[in-house]
Amino acid sequence: MSFAVAGDKYDRFMGRYSRELAPRFIEFAGVDSGMAVVDVGCGPGALTERLVWLAGAKDVAAADPSEPFVAAATERAPGADVRLAAAEELPWEDDRFDAALSQLVVNFMRDADAGVSEMRRVVQPANVVAACTWSYADDMQMLRGFWDAARRLDSGAPDEGSTMRYRSVEELDELWRRVGLTDVETGHLSVETGYTGFDDLWEPFTYGVGPAGAYLAKLDSEQREQLRTELFKGLGEPSGPFTLTATACAVRGTA
Ligand SMILES: C[S@@+](CC[C@H](N)C(=O)[O-])C[C@H]1O[C@@H](n2cnc3c(N)ncnc32)[C@H](O)[C@@H]1O
Repeated sequence: MSFAVAGDKYDRFMGRYSRELAPRFIEFAGVDSGMAVVDVGCGPGALTERLVWLAGAKDVAAADPSEPFVAAATERAPGADVRLAAAEELPWEDDRFDAALSQLVVNFMRDADAGVSEMRRVVQPANVVAACTWSYADDMQMLRGFWDAARRLDSGAPDEGSTMRYRSVEELDELWRRVGLTDVETGHLSVETGYTGFDDLWEPFTYGVGPAGAYLAKLDSEQREQLRTELFKGLGEPSGPFTLTATACAVRGTA
């Protein structure tokens, strides 16, 4: 999978969902103005931007291991402390923040226990550590449609609905308790996103973003065309604009 792509390409693929999800996730986490917050795995900055809008740039920090995403987030959240770093080694001192948030990242961390422990370390005692991940198996229509189509053509296609870790509230709850967070609460956050037409959905898959983009990039042109047709059929052959829904599993706990 790859996140070494330009921020605007990510935004057309997944960022369009991240933007809708960010305010709901902030509300779920209980972040408010006046709090110093870090966005872990910030990508091109959909959540970072929203946090700056809420808390002001001087109280917002963000980290991501992808260079193009850090560049995009820096541009999108001027004045925020955006750094090139992975969750497993956050470059901030202990107890630096009032909250640590991570949107759609825990399932991509090399070592989620270490990453969430780091989030806990940089948050003051009794403050919040929160994350959300897509409900890949159930309601993430864009990826569900893609992998259902892919598996009809190739039974070995690596469906994120079964390969992804931390895609249920139960798994997130377990992870949060395992790293020593308390007052753990979970919930579901639903969003929807509009497409101008089928090509607006298909083209971003060809940018090579994430597991679906990486899978598509390995197919030859005939296989790609078959998958495109299969996805089109699976979505009911849309002839104009349409919307898709997505639900994230969310968890919050106290450091
Ligand atoms: C699906 S994107 C989510 C980006 C952003 N939070 C959003 O809501 O759009 C996953 C992100 O996790 C980042 N990532 C991958 N491994 C990571 C790690 N070990 N620590 C922190 N971020 C990581 C990727 O670079 C990418 O930006």
